[in-house]
Amino acid sequence: MAGTADGTDTRAQDRARDQAGEQARDQAGEQARERVVEAALARLGLDDKARLLAGQDRWTLPALPVIGLASLVMSDGPIGVRGVRWTADDPSVALPSPTALAATWDPELARRAGVLLAQEARRKGVHVLLAPTVNLHRSPLGGRHFEAYSEDPYLTGRIGTGYVAGVQSGGVGTTVKHFVANDAETERFTVDNLIGERALRELYLAPFEAIVADARPWGVMTAYNSVNGITMSEHAPLVNGVLRGEWGFDGVNVSDWSAARDTVRAIEGGLDIAMPGPDTVYGEALARAVRDGRVEEATVDAAVRNVLRLAARIGILDGAEPVVAAPPAHVDGRALAHEIARRSFVLVRNEPAGNAGPAGNTGPAGNAGTTGTPVLPLRPDATVALIGAAARDARVLGGGSATVFPDRIVSPLDGLTAALPEGALTYAVGADPNEELSVADRGFTLRAVCRDAAGTVLGTAPVPNGDIKWTDVDLPEGVTHDNLHSVEVAGSFVPRESGTHTFGIKGLGAFTLTVDGTTYFDGVQRAAKEDPFAAFFGAPEPHARVELTAGESVEVSLAHPVDTPEGATATSVLFALAHQEPQRDPDELIAEAAAAARGADTAVVVVATTDRVESEGFDRTDLRLPGRQDDLVRAVAAANPNTVVVVNSGSPVELPWRDEVAAILLSWFPGQEGGAALADVLTGATEPGGRLPTTWGALTDAPVTEVVPNNGQLAYSEGVFIGYRAWEKAGRTPTYAFGHGLGYTNWAYESIEAEGTTVRVRLRNTGERPGHEIVQIYAAPATADDGPERPARRLAGFAGISADPGETVEAVVTLPARAFEVWDETAGAWARVKGSYEIAAGRSIADHRVTTAITV
Ligand code: BGC
Repeated sequence: MAGTADGTDTRAQDRARDQAGEQARDQAGEQARERVVEAALARLGLDDKARLLAGQDRWTLPALPVIGLASLVMSDGPIGVRGVRWTADDPSVALPSPTALAATWDPELARRAGVLLAQEARRKGVHVLLAPTVNLHRSPLGGRHFEAYSEDPYLTGRIGTGYVAGVQSGGVGTTVKHFVANDAETERFTVDNLIGERALRELYLAPFEAIVADARPWGVMTAYNSVNGITMSEHAPLVNGVLRGEWGFDGVNVSDWSAARDTVRAIEGGLDIAMPGPDTVYGEALARAVRDGRVEEATVDAAVRNVLRLAARIGILDGAEPVVAAPPAHVDGRALAHEIARRSFVLVRNEPAGNAGPAGNTGPAGNAGTTGTPVLPLRPDATVALIGAAARDARVLGGGSATVFPDRIVSPLDGLTAALPEGALTYAVGADPNEELSVADRGFTLRAVCRDAAGTVLGTAPVPNGDIKWTDVDLPEGVTHDNLHSVEVAGSFVPRESGTHTFGIKGLGAFTLTVDGTTYFDGVQRAAKEDPFAAFFGAPEPHARVELTAGESVEVSLAHPVDTPEGATATSVLFALAHQEPQRDPDELIAEAAAAARGADTAVVVVATTDRVESEGFDRTDLRLPGRQDDLVRAVAAANPNTVVVVNSGSPVELPWRDEVAAILLSWFPGQEGGAALADVLTGATEPGGRLPTTWGALTDAPVTEVVPNNGQLAYSEGVFIGYRAWEKAGRTPTYAFGHGLGYTNWAYESIEAEGTTVRVRLRNTGERPGHEIVQIYAAPATADDGPERPARRLAGFAGISADPGETVEAVVTLPARAFEVWDETAGAWARVKGSYEIAAGRSIADHRVTTAITV
């Protein structure tokens, strides 16, 4: 870790002493809890045991009052805690996307994020967080990459360790997911990933292994996919053998949602909990399997023991002292969301105005051809033309199960309006990448009205964004699935623009859509595709085009009889009112934006992906920005040489205009405070602190891209060469290298020394501002060996360090043994590859500043 030479040793000794004390206390606590767990287990009958291993609904396990066990509640997810209700009227703090957290390269910040999430979980009555996601960015096309950290297993493991330690220090459990190799989404329920033993160990299992060793997670979630022929919810060799056997994991293993398919194979494969309920392969089916002699009761006991241990740790099993007796000090969620965002933004290019140089990942501070002052930070008196749909309607989080509903969103427009002097800012849409209808949101005030068969109102609930996703726990007070006959989403809409507004419906079944007194649709929407999920995650159907005037309120209503087959009870109500603003001529919008850019000192264009590009359940087919956004950037750059592009995406996109603009800042999905953080960074109140956790390059150059299975199988034929390992092997230069990122000061790396595997790097802040640097250490085998082919170099350590102008500081990094090991497939063990290694310290994998050699 980082530290100045001064006092490092004393601090390390103090820390070691603290840790030893903590471990001793911990062990006594663990032993006491084990006794309570064993006593509780002994009092449970087979039926109760089998019931405890099955979800009782979407998010909870049953309470077992006979042993004083309360119902255990789980919730997604990585960037916030949604709670058991999927609704905007139960808001949660939304932190930046996991890719953003990884871009901070700061495990301590990840730990603080975890502490906040534990606080959110407690507030919402949640005991276990379904996070973090530590799968790897194997191919840039992976649709859910925003939810994972990095292409590098070491960085992923370090960030994941911080996160898990933080959540659990708040007394809340984690389920590190998805164990293992859920690195893409295509055919995710069934795909069989064929992965060699070395790649599995050195890449995909590595973050899980590190987190189990360093943070002792109380849970994992097994993935939907298979690995080498066995589905992960039944994978005895990897779960019982590696995870529990080799690594000593003693937590609970939860299935991914609906992943458990076979009672006997799942329980024997080490799966403890089958989620969600009430229909699962455990419960009665599991008790039956024991009675029929197909499963040993001892196998069920082992799973129950894991669940009870979790319950004891959390504090919901009578007689057991929870690991964390009192919650940690209160954390200000907004302030932390803001801090993580600004620390995560990656400035990949910052040229003097109008100086079109090569992509900025080489040269001093990365500023190629530095003549004149770089365009960022903005001059205090600069007028700014802010451009882009996402500048106004910010995309702050990725889609799918990671969704949460923050109580406020600070868009770039909000953030810059607050930060710049009055009159300094103009705004133009430029291009709207949202080509489809989306759930009714801005300008709508909506309630759900629930009625019985006679039309009597049973209950109502606010639905701020017209989106109903109700299971049992979500039904409004007084409403049950038995008495509910219809749901109407009704209220008012105040348009912000005049023109033709489109209204539509997401969902299946009968609907009546009325806008401003006219009924536009009264019929049935049927599943267009085989996949029933498509009706909910696909594009909404447009049904009404209505001329409306800005500022004038109209009434809207969408009524839906809750249709169930004869004799059956509905278990969920899922539909949404959808809307799209007036669509203007795209060329006209771009011309308007270029004119705005021409009239300002600086143009800031915010480009973004949409939830049709980055979400859960599907992969990407290209890395292009959707809609006309590339044309927009080019037109703006042609109009104003001081063009700054902010890229609001969770994972890599292609930037074909990158040499035509002055600066490029990656803001990821920046969470609810993203716009405020953006204003800080653009104005220079703080420097952007992020470094790339994943290589950014064009799809045609990317060495590993395949995410589509062939006959149900996806071969990881690249072996251990993904991410920068693969780019280096292929001898290709990406657009922006792994680890790259600029700040607002300059650094001189003065020396590097290695003593054993402890590396000391001295560096000086040679710029005019205080700065924060991520010192990255890469290890490259310098001697050839006759073993299996190894990556040319790998990330072996890093440290964040701050310095004032002129100050010299020392970063001390201890390299892990794994940096010099390979998995020996013949021996089935890790093997140290002896020899000489070049140890380079620098600013990215492509930018080494000082080097030394060590022999191991
Ligand atoms: C996702 C998990 C998530 C679960 C519950 C699944 O579809 O893959 O990551 O935790 O749903 O929402």
